[in-house]
Amino acid sequence: MIPVFKPAVGDDEWQAVRECFQTGWIGLGPKTAEFEQAFGKTIGAEYVVGMNSCSSALDMAFKVLGISGGEVITPSLTFVSTNHAILYNNCTPVFGDVTRDTLTLDPDDVRRKITPNTVALMLVHYAGHPCDLDAFLEIAREHNLAIIEDCAHAAGSTYNGQPVGTFGDAGCFSFHAVKNVAMGEGGALVVKQTDQYERAMQLRWCGISKSTWERARGKSYSWQYDVQELGYKYHLSDIAAAIGLVQLGKIEQHRQARKHIWQTYDVAFADLPVQPLAIHNNVTSTHLIYVLQTERRDEMIDFLRERGIGTSVHYYPNHLFDLYRRYPADIPITEEVWQKIITLPIYPALTSEQVETVIEGVRAFYQDT
Ligand SMILES: Cc1ncc(COP(=O)(O)O)c(C=O)c1O
Repeated sequence: MIPVFKPAVGDDEWQAVRECFQTGWIGLGPKTAEFEQAFGKTIGAEYVVGMNSCSSALDMAFKVLGISGGEVITPSLTFVSTNHAILYNNCTPVFGDVTRDTLTLDPDDVRRKITPNTVALMLVHYAGHPCDLDAFLEIAREHNLAIIEDCAHAAGSTYNGQPVGTFGDAGCFSFHAVKNVAMGEGGALVVKQTDQYERAMQLRWCGISKSTWERARGKSYSWQYDVQELGYKYHLSDIAAAIGLVQLGKIEQHRQARKHIWQTYDVAFADLPVQPLAIHNNVTSTHLIYVLQTERRDEMIDFLRERGIGTSVHYYPNHLFDLYRRYPADIPITEEVWQKIITLPIYPALTSEQVETVIEGVRAFYQDT
C-alpha cells in the first residue's frame, strides 16, 4: 500500500534525539529555546513560542490577543482544531466560503459576512497555499479586526516573498508528524508584541513565571517562581525540538520534493476531467497536500484503494459536524467542492516508481471505468 502521508524523518533526527537523551534535557529546556530562535530566523519573526501543537497555538493566540467573544470569520474546509480554538474562547464561528482554485477563504465572501460583532479573521493557508493576504490585511485594517493565521500546512510558504505567519497578529504552526517540519507533535505561536510573547511564554507552562531551564541557568538553582495567571500545559518539549532543529535544515528540500511531485501529477493529469489546485504567481507553497477535484470522488477512492494507493479527503467541512451545525454557514462553493475533493500521496520519501503507480492508477480509473 502506498500511504497518503509518510513522515520525512531518518538517521539525522534519530541522532539528534540520542544527543538530547545524553544531556538529560528531554522536557522543556535548551533545545526548545534553540528551536524557537532558529524557527524565528527561518521565518523572520522576533517572537516565537514553542508549543506542543498548532491546536494549542491557536487557542493561545486568542488568549494573548485578548479575544474572548464575538464573531470570527473562518473556513469550514479545515481541520477541526482551527474552529475549536474559536469555541474554546467563547467566540462564534461564522463560516466564510473558499475560492475554487486554491480552496482558501474568499475575501469577497468574507467582506459580505462582516457585522458589527466581527472581531477576527481566521486565515487557513490550505495545502500550504497562502490566503490572499493583501486583501485580508486591507479588510482587517478597514474594520479593525485581528488576523490569526493558521499556518499548520505552511511552514516554509511565502506570500510576496514574506513567510506566512508574520502577516497577521498571530501565526500558528504545526510540526505534527506529516507536516513540512515534522517533530511527531509540536507547534509554534508567532506574535508581534513583547507583552503578548511574555504572556504566552508563561501561559504555555501552567502560568509559571520562570521555566526550569531559566532557573537552572541562574548562578544557583532557584526553586522559586510565581503564578500570576491560570495557564496551560501547552509547551514544546526538547525531544521534539531536537528533531525540529534537524527538520528546519531540510525545510526547503522538503518543499522542493513535494513541489516536484505536485508538478509531475499536474502534467500527468492535464488531459483528465479533474481539477488540481492552483498555485498563484506571488506565492511559494509547501505543496503539503495534493488535492484534485473530480465528479467521481468516492468511486476513485475505492478504485485506488484496490490498487494499493492510499487517499484521503481534506476536509469534511466542519459546519456539517453536529457541534458546528448551529453556526451560520452560507457557503455554496464549500458545499459543492468538498464532495469532489480527493487527496493523493505526496511526501519527500515517495519514490518516482510510486509516483508513477499513482499516476497509472488515476489514469486507469478514467480508462477502465
Ligand atoms: C489546518 C490545520 N490547523 C490546525 C491543525 C492542528 O495541528 P496540530 O495537530 O499540530 O494540533 C491541523 C493539523 O493537521 C491542520 O491541518
